[in-house]
Amino acid sequence: MTFFAGWFLIPIAVGHVAFWIWTVNVLHGLGVNEHNVSRWNMTLFSLGSLASLLLLWSTWQGEWSVVAQAYGLLCLAVGCVALPVTTVLRLVRQHPSGVVFESAEWPMTDRDSYIGEGRYHWMHRLRGNESLRLRRVETTLTLPGLPPALDGLTILHLTDFHFAPCYHRRYFEAVSRAAQEWGVCDLILFTGDMIDNDEGIAWVEPVLGPLTARLGKFAILGNHDLAHDVDGLVASLERAGYTNLEGAWTTVEHQGATLALGGTSTPWGPELDTQAMPESDASIVLSHAPDTFPKFASAGVNLVLAGHNHGGQIRVPILGPIMMPSRFSRRYDRGIFRRGRTLLFVSQGVGGKHPLRFGGCMPEIARVTLRCDVTRVQPEIDYSRVALRSLRKAVEISTARSCEYSKNLSLFQKIRVQKQLVKP
Ligand SMILES: [Fe+2]
Repeated sequence: MTFFAGWFLIPIAVGHVAFWIWTVNVLHGLGVNEHNVSRWNMTLFSLGSLASLLLLWSTWQGEWSVVAQAYGLLCLAVGCVALPVTTVLRLVRQHPSGVVFESAEWPMTDRDSYIGEGRYHWMHRLRGNESLRLRRVETTLTLPGLPPALDGLTILHLTDFHFAPCYHRRYFEAVSRAAQEWGVCDLILFTGDMIDNDEGIAWVEPVLGPLTARLGKFAILGNHDLAHDVDGLVASLERAGYTNLEGAWTTVEHQGATLALGGTSTPWGPELDTQAMPESDASIVLSHAPDTFPKFASAGVNLVLAGHNHGGQIRVPILGPIMMPSRFSRRYDRGIFRRGRTLLFVSQGVGGKHPLRFGGCMPEIARVTLRCDVTRVQPEIDYSRVALRSLRKAVEISTARSCEYSKNLSLFQKIRVQKQLVKP
């Protein structure tokens, strides 16, 4: 079939790679246990290789079976439509209205002393790797419905430290000092993936203990934590002054207002029941993965804080991140998103099991300030919905016109027949 030859092979090849990356991303967002990740990766790699062989064999033979044609068309659709459209939508995406977002690199000197001796430590030394740098994000979020009593509330958001021997503890202590330079916040919220190794549990108290907050410190676990000594980690977090919010709600009082705080590491850890949300004036959810955003937006939660995706760790110019273990693939990679009255902040975290960060994805900590000015909040433009609505409208108009045309045509024919009948 000539359709699957020549220049068409390039978008087919691009679509093939994009389709398998998307598949890997989505399946890893469904809650694969960390112990089974290698098995999953091997299975997906084998299936992807078989699909590659099918394309290569068909191109070589110049004969495309029905299966090869169907797969070729799928790849063509991904390569020519899905990938370009999602890339453009990602490039034009901006922070929602009512959000101020600033970031600056924090000087991390003597980086060689931050490298440990454990597995993957050599990755830190790769040219261009940003794994031992740090940026501090300061963001102000205007939350619709936030009571004036909570206006100005400050949160130190930390996530994904991934304590492991490829780092030296000194690196995380330097990160902790950079956070302390902001001064005392009202809340400290940690959104999971504290450790990648049981030895890392001993670092929790010296690194996170010195951080203080006026209203309290709260933490949840992440998928990497759940593959290790959970009881030991939770005990260590509690000794460092953190309340474990896994699958639970609590409240804090501030200037007469009640703020509900909930936490979840689903789909790996316990779910958070939105029906059990305490009576409150506003609510914040700590969710390890940002995939829960639609659920908590539907429940009317004011703010969701998340990590897990690490910003993709390796970001490519124009395309952005590639690998992202999420049901939504690369959609919630990092930054701030709005859905209805709910905001989501996704941090790219601090560490990683594989300490590789390239293309502007350096480790990050954030200080979030809440604002309650409701007057200036505009709904975020969802370009995909706008495009879909325009498409629907175009279909409606063309259908209406074709109906009108057929109506006119039948009227015209009727007149012609009548004219023929009255002809002398
Ligand atoms: Fe993580």
